[in-house]
Amino acid sequence: MPRSTPSISSPSKRLSLISSHFADQQPLDIPSGTALLPKSQARKLSKSAIMSSQPDHPTLLIPGPIEFDDAVLQSMSHYSESHVGPGFVATFGDTLSMLRKLFQTSDPAAQPFIISGSGTLGWDIVAANLVEAGEDVLVLSTGYFSDGFADCLKVYGANVTELRGPVGGRPQLPEIEKALSEKKYKMITVTHVDTSTGVLSELENLSALVRKVSPDTLIIVDGVCSVACEEIAFDKWQLDGVVTASQKAIGCPAGLSISMFSGRAMNALQNRKSPPSSYFASMKNWAPIMRNYEAKKPSYFATPSPQLVHALHTALTQILSKPVSDRFARHKEASDRIKKAVAELGLKQVAADPENQAHGMTAIYLPENVKAPELLPKLAQKKVVFAGGIHKEIAPKYIRFGHMGVSVLNPERGDVERALEALRDSLAECGYQKA
Ligand SMILES: Cc1ncc(COP(=O)(O)O)c(C=O)c1O
Repeated sequence: MPRSTPSISSPSKRLSLISSHFADQQPLDIPSGTALLPKSQARKLSKSAIMSSQPDHPTLLIPGPIEFDDAVLQSMSHYSESHVGPGFVATFGDTLSMLRKLFQTSDPAAQPFIISGSGTLGWDIVAANLVEAGEDVLVLSTGYFSDGFADCLKVYGANVTELRGPVGGRPQLPEIEKALSEKKYKMITVTHVDTSTGVLSELENLSALVRKVSPDTLIIVDGVCSVACEEIAFDKWQLDGVVTASQKAIGCPAGLSISMFSGRAMNALQNRKSPPSSYFASMKNWAPIMRNYEAKKPSYFATPSPQLVHALHTALTQILSKPVSDRFARHKEASDRIKKAVAELGLKQVAADPENQAHGMTAIYLPENVKAPELLPKLAQKKVVFAGGIHKEIAPKYIRFGHMGVSVLNPERGDVERALEALRDSLAECGYQKA
């Protein structure tokens, strides 16, 4: 049964969970920055990473930020230019147009946005523009990040009903259908991959169900941990909004909120009774700017980050140089290999059912006697950085391995093999033996 949740996970509880997870990792040797060296000065790299012009560093295999391609990083050192000058306007415009291809939309009414901020800004954009205070939203919850989206919607006055899957699972279509037929929802939100559990939600059948039972309900997807590693067919699946961020499978440094909204979502924005309840996150303020940039016309609402947009332009150019279906297939292949190796180690995944398993990350339950604060530093000594657990019900019991972008697409780096070997060896050092 869906239930209205007062506050299942208050923001302060969520924050304390995340900070305790970082405390666990303090012994890790995480570099404070990865300044680029000119090629001539590039250090001889150890076996830990073959990243041509980047200083030797532990391989970052958390579920975002991910390892970056050299060319993407080098784009960040672009000379300074005016954010309304013709050079940058052309780059920004092309970047927006490339997003349409990544999201597989050719509908001219669909509107891409690139706004300085992290993935969380996408939640604020949705909450401040597409729902009004007192309107009903159905949030499908598959973990920590779904709960965060629910918290954000509540801050803007939405009346949120959460339908939660069991830990490691997801709400099923019959219960979603029941909830949708009991109340008229302005919007349903789904976290495509909940990064806290590695649970993948299915979008195509979900969308067909929503269109059948409640055709006016907007379908909004949190794609922060799925865009560019899981298929998203924006038009075909009739999605109304996908919000994501630069630092995960897109492979660009953190700092950009990236989103796509349908013509229906843009109409819902136009038909609001009250103005958007944010200034910086107002789609009404940003939409004309995005349209102008794409038409290669200078425009200003607030200063964008030219350097990050250059990096995103490079990342998207690389992504679109091959069919996106190949990219999704290669993430799936790598994921299958990793999940098989994890099973061979005698370990279980948080997302137990293969149908629910993400392809850009794996959340792995630890053996009984192995604790994350013991295991993660051993991995770090082998120059492999994994993340601890953050789902409030199981946080100390599991770790997360991110496998997105160059770490799986450039096999010559050897990131995945090195990580699996480090995991095997570190578990053995912790005294684990497969039963
Ligand atoms: C699924 C999901 N949604 C939202 C966020 C929030 O993004 P950010 O940390 O970039 O603000 C994250 C972050 O990891 C995420 O994984």
